Amino acid sequence: MSGGAPGAGMTSRPATRTLIPVHTRERAGGLPRPVIGWVVRVVVGWSAPGATVTAVTRQTTDQAPVEALVVARDLVKTYGAVEAVRGVDIDVWPGEAFGFLGPNGAGKTSTMRMIAAVSTPTSGTLRVLGLDPAADGPQLRARLGVCPQEDTLDTELTVRENLIVYGRFFGLSRAECARRADELLEFVQLGDRVHARVDQLSGGLKRRLTVARSLVNDPELLILDEPTTGLDPQARHLLWDRLFRLKQAGTTLLLTTHYMDEAEQLCDRLVVIDKGVIVAEGSPTELICEHSSREVCELRFGIADHAELATKVEHLGDRIEVLPDRLLVYAADGESVASAVHEMGLTPTSTLVRRSTLEDVFLRLTGRTLVE
Ligand SMILES: Nc1ncnc2c1ncn2[C@@H]1O[C@H](COP(=O)(O)OP(=O)(O)OP(=O)(O)O)[C@@H](O)[C@H]1O
Ligand SMILES: [Mg+2]
Repeated sequence: MSGGAPGAGMTSRPATRTLIPVHTRERAGGLPRPVIGWVVRVVVGWSAPGATVTAVTRQTTDQAPVEALVVARDLVKTYGAVEAVRGVDIDVWPGEAFGFLGPNGAGKTSTMRMIAAVSTPTSGTLRVLGLDPAADGPQLRARLGVCPQEDTLDTELTVRENLIVYGRFFGLSRAECARRADELLEFVQLGDRVHARVDQLSGGLKRRLTVARSLVNDPELLILDEPTTGLDPQARHLLWDRLFRLKQAGTTLLLTTHYMDEAEQLCDRLVVIDKGVIVAEGSPTELICEHSSREVCELRFGIADHAELATKVEHLGDRIEVLPDRLLVYAADGESVASAVHEMGLTPTSTLVRRSTLEDVFLRLTGRTLVE
């Protein structure tokens, strides 16, 4: 693993500064609010391209410099001939919720596992909470909370015992573990299942227990790999609420999800990973503005040749997609598209005008077809 002593083997070069606009938190689907300030991003401790990055800080005009909690540069992970992660660069700032989106096999879990200090990078630089995960694994893991993609609960222990045993790994006293366990089981609403054995829990309940377990050591950085997969809508909303509260209390969140509504709700910033590389980065609103139109007009024509109809209406939008059951016309004003279609004498069996979503962006960037 690279990331040796600061400055080792580098030629000296001044820090770089970039002015970055700061927006207020944006509502999903809305337009970005006006710029309210600027930050100066200062990259320190690096020299030639590809050299080791030791820290990245940024400074708002009226605050002390803040150091990024996760800094990855040209991060690579290969498994034999499989190139799972092929040069990922990210900065995660304190207090933000940072999301990884990407199709199956894109490299999200491989990246998260390197950040969580359970898998060694093949090459590149990685700093987490100012530490090198390859060299400072135990120190780092003590300050991280990790909810892995696959549940790794002890199925023969009870719900409460799972949390207590896990807390003991962090050196917490038995009394402290018991107190944390009760608190966390209430937090994820498993208070009525404390004495159930884990192998008697449903998949969704296990998932909630895994999330509770990741919080036992009161982590500074919480890493959640598909935390809500398998949860029913009520449990998903419960967890969103809990994660939002944690974020408000200052915990930094790093998560992956396949639910685009979840990403829009929870994440301040996102990267879309495809085949091991980042293909887009920004807030949910920025990604929608950059990679989709403001609205989408969905037209269904029953049994019809959608490809032929597409040639008739394509001039009405910025882009058109032909699906087996409908046409999607991407445009700033979807109602105008719908009116124009009717004025042309075309009679869709149904017309739906909606705002563009992160799902539109995701499908545009990563394609509609399954790759693996
Ligand atoms: N331990 C491993 N040994 C060999 N190949 C692996 C291993 N772990 C992951 N891979 C491969 O690396 C690639 C990236 O996998 P990864 O689990 O990071 O994807 P992912 O984005 O998390 O996907 P998903 O959304 O399905 O969880 C895949 O091709 C996968 O098969
Ligand atoms: Mg995964």
